[in-house]
Amino acid sequence: MQTRLTDELDSLQPADLDAGQVFSGKQSGTTVRAYAVPSAYTPSIDHDYIFHESSRDVVVWFLNAQEPLYVFGPCGCGKSTCIKQLAARLNYPVFEVTGHGRLEIADLVGHLTIKDSNMVFEYGPLALAMRYGAILLLNEIDLTSPEIAAGLNSVLDGSPLCIAENGGELIVPHPMFRFVATANTNGGGDDTGLYQGTQRQNLAWLDRFTICEVGYPSADVEKSLLARRFPSLPESLCATMVDYANEVRKLFMGEASTNNLTSTIEVTFSTRSLLRWGDLTVRFQPLAHQGVQPVTYALDRALAYRASRETRAMLHELAQRMFPQQVEAEGPNATYTNSVK
Ligand SMILES: Nc1ncnc2c1ncn2[C@@H]1O[C@H](COP(=O)(O)OP(=O)(O)OP(=O)(O)O)[C@@H](O)[C@H]1O
Ligand SMILES: [Mg+2]
Repeated sequence: MQTRLTDELDSLQPADLDAGQVFSGKQSGTTVRAYAVPSAYTPSIDHDYIFHESSRDVVVWFLNAQEPLYVFGPCGCGKSTCIKQLAARLNYPVFEVTGHGRLEIADLVGHLTIKDSNMVFEYGPLALAMRYGAILLLNEIDLTSPEIAAGLNSVLDGSPLCIAENGGELIVPHPMFRFVATANTNGGGDDTGLYQGTQRQNLAWLDRFTICEVGYPSADVEKSLLARRFPSLPESLCATMVDYANEVRKLFMGEASTNNLTSTIEVTFSTRSLLRWGDLTVRFQPLAHQGVQPVTYALDRALAYRASRETRAMLHELAQRMFPQQVEAEGPNATYTNSVK
């Protein structure tokens, strides 16, 4: 298996692509180092993906990536997807790993194993990415214990990886090796209590990264996203759903809601939950003739059930105000009409 994998990665040919052409469809004259063709390890292109303002810093980093990149932002805002969709456009192979409190360097570098009665070294994602010029995408890096993460310092500096278990093998980083970490915190710890398990990272370790903050896409982008993913939802309904999500985000941040609600709530709308809400609204639509109100029914299952009773009541009140006329439907093929104020 590993031989097939490495043969394919070995045969990849670098290519210079026009950055504008790749990301916006318009020639820009700026080239970006990429691969000529995708491999089995290149993420698939999501044609509904929208590169928005928050992706700009990541694109700039890709144009001339010399240092590792640390991307942080709220859960479900699109950090991992942004990296993978950029990689997909540039045909980069991606090795994706999720950090956790018990992650060990060996999980990244590799380990000895027995094959056909012989001891052989099985390379891990870091060793493979370094050797073959792939992206190591280390998600939730702030869940990793800082002393383990600091074990990567020399790799982050661009030094070769020395694998003592494999007879001191030295892996010199391929010029197209990229290291990207994503996290919900900036590595300085979580004082909100929302991201349980995250750990304050070592300052010298953090100092090795270019840092980039990614936020939720703008309302216009999220509206287009819903419209692209769920073409059967009327545009006006998508727009109100995004406005609703932004109201919830305001309440979560303790900011004044434009709907005169004042309490701070403990749940918020990620782009992931918003897309789930859209998906469930479409899927529950055929149940409308049984008295199910698709938008609010889906809202409970996409987000509100995660909240306390009080918050759920507030989410329902907000929904009543913003979706005063529920989606009308009279059967499985009913259309969403008259669904927004
Ligand atoms: N710009 C976008 N275009 C299309 N889909 C998007 C966009 N941004 C986010 N999404 C969608 O939102 C969902 C969450 O994205 P993703 O998993 O990348 O978030 P994340 O920030 O890495 O979350 P976490 O902090 O939980 O790791 C995915 O389904 C993704 O496809
Ligand atoms: Mg992620």
